[in-house]
Amino acid sequence: MRAHLILALCLHLCSKAATEKCQLKHKGGNREFPANFSFGASTAAYQIEGAWNEDGKGLSIWDTYTHTNPERIRDRTNGDAAAESYHRFEQDLVALKELKVNFYRFSFSWPRLLPNADTTVINQKGIDYYNMMIDKLLANNIEPMVTMFHCDLPDALNKFGGFTNDIIIKYFHYYAEFLYETFGDRVKKWITFNEPFDYCVLGYGRAYFPPLVHSPGVADYLCMDNTLRAHAAAYRAYKAKYFSAQGGKVGITISSRFYYNQQNGGDESIVERAMQYSLGWLANPIFGKTGNYPQLILDDIWNNSMREGLSWSRLPAFDEFWSKVIKGSGDFLGLNYYTSRYAELADPADGEIPSWEYDSQLQYSVDEKWKQGKSDWLYCVPQGLEDILKWIRDHYDNVEVFVTENGWSDNGQLEDSERVDYLQAHLQAVLNAVNDGCNVTHYSHWSLIDNFEWNMGYTQKFGLFYLNLTSPNKERIAKKSARYYSSVIESGKIILS
Ligand code: NOJ
Repeated sequence: MRAHLILALCLHLCSKAATEKCQLKHKGGNREFPANFSFGASTAAYQIEGAWNEDGKGLSIWDTYTHTNPERIRDRTNGDAAAESYHRFEQDLVALKELKVNFYRFSFSWPRLLPNADTTVINQKGIDYYNMMIDKLLANNIEPMVTMFHCDLPDALNKFGGFTNDIIIKYFHYYAEFLYETFGDRVKKWITFNEPFDYCVLGYGRAYFPPLVHSPGVADYLCMDNTLRAHAAAYRAYKAKYFSAQGGKVGITISSRFYYNQQNGGDESIVERAMQYSLGWLANPIFGKTGNYPQLILDDIWNNSMREGLSWSRLPAFDEFWSKVIKGSGDFLGLNYYTSRYAELADPADGEIPSWEYDSQLQYSVDEKWKQGKSDWLYCVPQGLEDILKWIRDHYDNVEVFVTENGWSDNGQLEDSERVDYLQAHLQAVLNAVNDGCNVTHYSHWSLIDNFEWNMGYTQKFGLFYLNLTSPNKERIAKKSARYYSSVIESGKIILS
């Protein structure tokens, strides 16, 4: 019995010892960020606003989903009240000022502004709320960076297919023009969509997120296709009608990990395949040379579709018209980077047929040395951020990059030393990339405050500020990481913790 205990303890300590501290070295060059480098913090409407049915707001698919499927959320919670930011923006503003951020990245709730998704009903109370936020941010020298869509699709649109119906291109185009007209005199940084791969593959492929469609390798691809076209339509409208008077920038936020190959001795072609199947899927049509999906993906999916006896590919290339509209439709690439993986070639028989897993023929693993956050998918790999920024520099003509999200999950403790390490290491990755010629100009941390983490509810906390959900005043309390981040912003240097 004793021997067993000793063995168990040793195994525990040994496996602990195998985990490395989350850190990254300075690789030479400047120790300071460029003088015009911008630091920010990010949130999204459904995750913080609450007020789900107040003041004329319409329903989003996340309202409906959490109400009809409470068992699907780890702690059976929802965003009905969340951080109550709809009523407590002043408290968020105090937190932003304490951080001394240059910008605040937040999202508009489409159904709060247009409850029917189209412009037949315009909700003035929603406009008033966002006007108040924007004006107060600007009065405090904090630039608003607005995401137009962050998961909360109007239910009204979902009723007839959501992202799988290409009429969404028209709806989104009208919504975008309404936003430029209403807020574009003051908002100069627009992000059309946040993480299309995630809401498409998880929402229309794997049925893990609303609208719970299980149609892998088909509906998820349609969703990404319509997203790209809706994005480009909104971008072109801005350039044609608003840019000359408003002078802002429009981009899109794409999530991606970086990939390393291990088993085949660092085979570059496997790294390339993994990168094209993640970042490249959405980035290549916009920022690449062809105005289309990566050729590797088009070929794979055409071949697989023929093998499946289909009459056309599950991922048809964009025609000449759309290719022209999409190519170059981004003033910056928004990047959400959290973690990395090893990628190896998988057995061709692996994966549900059809599916993204089957088409990509890759399998992924992690390094036991990588430190893990509270989220099962989150490992600290700061080198991956440096490498993905270099990959973007080399593949997309050094396009301007905004790191729009990067963050660490834990239990919400105030002494969040692991988040401090993560933040420090990832800021070092950004600085190393800048020193290596990457055109990265903005970094934003996810998240300003603890919030609703989708299917994980409130069980995983990403905030720089702690939020006591049960306290009547929902105070935002600075964690150690908030103090650390503000010292970096103030000095423009990475302070060693
Ligand atoms: C990315 C998403 O944009 C955000 O909504 C989410 O909370 C974070 N990742 C953490 O998972």
